[in-house]
Amino acid sequence: MAELQVLLQHRNVPGIDGIDVYESHGGYAGLRAALGKERQAVIDEVKASGLRGRGGAGFPTWIKWNGLPKSGPAQHYLLCNADEGEPGTFKDRELLLKLPHMVVEGMAIAAYATRSANGFVYVRGEFVESATQLRRAIDQAHRRGYLGRNILGHSDFCFDLHIHTGAGSYECGEETALMSSLMGERGQPRLKPPHGPLPVVSGVWGSPTLINNVETYACVPHILTHGGAWYAAMGTQRSPGTKIFSVSGHVARPGNYEIELGTPLTELIDLAGGVVGGALKAVIPGGSSVPILPAEKCAGVTLDYEGCQAAGTMLGSGGFMVFNDKTDIVALMRRTAQFYAHESCGKCTPCREGTRWMSRVLDRITAGAGRMEDIDLLLSICDQIDGRSYCPLGDAASWPIRAGIRNFRHEFEHWVRHGSSPIPGFVPPVRSHGPSPVPGRQE
Ligand SMILES: Cc1cc2nc3c(=O)[nH]c(=O)nc-3n(C[C@H](O)[C@H](O)[C@H](O)COP(=O)(O)O)c2cc1C
Repeated sequence: MAELQVLLQHRNVPGIDGIDVYESHGGYAGLRAALGKERQAVIDEVKASGLRGRGGAGFPTWIKWNGLPKSGPAQHYLLCNADEGEPGTFKDRELLLKLPHMVVEGMAIAAYATRSANGFVYVRGEFVESATQLRRAIDQAHRRGYLGRNILGHSDFCFDLHIHTGAGSYECGEETALMSSLMGERGQPRLKPPHGPLPVVSGVWGSPTLINNVETYACVPHILTHGGAWYAAMGTQRSPGTKIFSVSGHVARPGNYEIELGTPLTELIDLAGGVVGGALKAVIPGGSSVPILPAEKCAGVTLDYEGCQAAGTMLGSGGFMVFNDKTDIVALMRRTAQFYAHESCGKCTPCREGTRWMSRVLDRITAGAGRMEDIDLLLSICDQIDGRSYCPLGDAASWPIRAGIRNFRHEFEHWVRHGSSPIPGFVPPVRSHGPSPVPGRQE
């Protein structure tokens, strides 16, 4: 079993981050093909490809593009979500670092299709090198006429691209919070339908706004160059194309792997050199927000949106984390809960309070002071956050904990009964910034 590389095919070609080498490997052919078509025909090509957003939710890309107004004043904005805060995910960072022109080209095509004159790439602040590479690519693309006024001589197409660096907040990857942050406001979410407008209707500065993930844009030049049908022939019928998975954890060769959607989960582990340090215990296939899959449920699971859902988890952003049998699942859940408690933006009560409570209860259990009822208390907190928070960060915080308890309840019970890990020799991590002293325990 091999990778099927569409986006990453040339990632190790020396100089591919520069415009000359990128062009010599077919770069900007997709933009030329797009500009030879009517705007609607470009959207139709993306529709034919079946491309779904790679930022996590898997929403059909063409539906968003098609939702922007097609007539009237065209003060539309195009945003690229390069915040990539989901633990376990590091594909967008590599795309921007090694193949920045692919993202610029994809955005230029999207700008043409949606009549957007200005675009922003919202880059996580820590990705200094990726932002530098992107800035260089934007300058080069400007000089060669792929950005700016009357692109490639097209009288009706001007597009400028800007970079905005974030300050490293997970919540700012949520699309409405990202827009608030971009406008200089606090990085908190805004209401979406049915209570508020869709970004394509009213986004940044009240204008229609398209937002897609880095990888989503990077797929677009290939679709325009080779055709939507070519792209749709890869993957499965409902999850077409390829997807980059960021493989980390207990594997021999961690890194980004691009595979056809529908590939068996176990084949991706093999591609990454197999499990090291013990037998496979569990996999988190789509970033820390998605439910954990115990090893016995991994057989037969395919990596596509439907396959993951059928197995009780999600494809998410493709942050594929592998855990061997030396992993303490309760400690893993505690660390996960800590992350969400730290990153909750505080705007809504269920998420602000619930994530902190989950973190505290898990602190108590892993400090050896847990009570048996704490396990059901955790499940009850999950129920009180899930579906009740202002944005999906609350859901994302509750899903892993609920799945951790459902699949590994015996490990939680062991911690409570014995006050120690079920994993022989496991040393609990040093308490870095636990939210509060653990009740009932001498600190
Ligand atoms: C808390 C939270 C964080 C998110 N972080 C990211 C992110 O870092 N990058 C991303 O592309 N999407 C992220 N998303 C999803 C975005 O809201 C949005 O769905 C995505 O950018 C749309 O692009 P796509 O259709 O191309 O996937 C996040 C969502 C939530 C709820």
